[in-house]
Amino acid sequence: MTILVTGGAGFIGSNFVLDWLAQCDEPVLNLDKLTYAGNLENLASLQGDARHVFVQGDLGDRALVDALLAQHRPRAVLHFAAESHVDRSIHGPEDFIQTNIVGTFRLLEAVRAYWSALPEAEKTAFRFLHVSTDEVYGTLSKDDPPFAETKAYEPNSPYSASKAASDHLVRAWHHTYGLPVLTTNCSNNYGPYHFPEKLIPLMIVNALAGKSLPVYGDGLQVRDWLYVKDHCSAIRRVLEAGRLGETYNVGGWNEKPNIEIVHTVCALLDELRPKADGSSYKAQITHVQDRPGHDRRYAIDARKIQRELGWKPAETFETGIRKTVQWYLAHPEWVQHVQSGSYRDWVQKQYG
Ligand code: NAD
Ligand code: TYD
Repeated sequence: MTILVTGGAGFIGSNFVLDWLAQCDEPVLNLDKLTYAGNLENLASLQGDARHVFVQGDLGDRALVDALLAQHRPRAVLHFAAESHVDRSIHGPEDFIQTNIVGTFRLLEAVRAYWSALPEAEKTAFRFLHVSTDEVYGTLSKDDPPFAETKAYEPNSPYSASKAASDHLVRAWHHTYGLPVLTTNCSNNYGPYHFPEKLIPLMIVNALAGKSLPVYGDGLQVRDWLYVKDHCSAIRRVLEAGRLGETYNVGGWNEKPNIEIVHTVCALLDELRPKADGSSYKAQITHVQDRPGHDRRYAIDARKIQRELGWKPAETFETGIRKTVQWYLAHPEWVQHVQSGSYRDWVQKQYG
């Protein structure tokens, strides 16, 4: 048996692939376009491991996806690939529409054709798991209840609108064509291999480089934070036992204002890598212009996945953020390759 993972060279996808192969021997076919966010160095430890087959390609390339499905005959498709950065979606929404909406549509069509022709037993066992975000639900005020799966979609950024559209397509392919789908809507992830354009890794690498720590607006926007390995375990669990056509919200029960996150990162760096002059990294915090349309608060009600599937996060924010800061301190070459752009040479180095 094999699973097909899209976007397996990105932050969450690569953590998932590493985690999967650490826990079982079922091979992974990894389809990734290697945009700026795809980094095969994340998977360097799998070099020479026959259980991991990497294919560089676009999920919207129907001929390629048809051929991969026919050749590898996966029992499940786990769809991580996306354009994922809100700020980039504000500057240039086109790629988000292409990959997140059109790409998901093409993938669904390819998978539907493959799945329809499977023998009955394989057809029944097949799963398409769509990895999505809590951002599709829009923004909350301070006293609103957290997002439950029944919350109406109210996406506010080009990114979240494109993810919302992809969720609707996945839902429709289930209701119309019977495709056996599962959807997860997760809160903000953090952990190893997180591209330093997102809040937590950006703060770590900027702090260490002596650069300013840009906090948007008043820094009181609230996010729920989930350690990436907990997200991976949630996805495995949903794949294993999720009810077809259902969505599961995945969260860390860690609602925190951005400024508190930045203070925590600074305090950990003060402890683990104190500055020579004895000053705190907090002195590098600068409040900058707010993001247009910035959602004020996200919060996840993760009781359904706990009740139905027995999943809950293993890490608290305190344990997860400490591991994350330690990981970045222990991997300066990964950070350096990302910053210099040389991580892109990895494909050439690795595959000739
Ligand atoms: P990422 O940006 O780090 O990685 C995305 C990966 O997809 C990259 O490897 C990229 O090369 C690949 N990709 C992009 N376009 C492609 C295409 N057209 N064809 C094939 N591959 C393509 O993203 P991430 O943070 O790992 O997020 C993974 C998924 O999880 C996304 O669907 C995202 O919406 C969702 N999600 C992310 C978070 C988060 O906090 N990062 C939270 C909830 C949900
Ligand atoms: P981000 O990591 O971009 O994730 P998302 O927008 O998907 O939640 O941002 C997390 C929060 O941090 C968000 O409220 C925006 C804020 N932020 C900053 O204040 N400064 C920054 O430099 C970045 C990248 C984000």
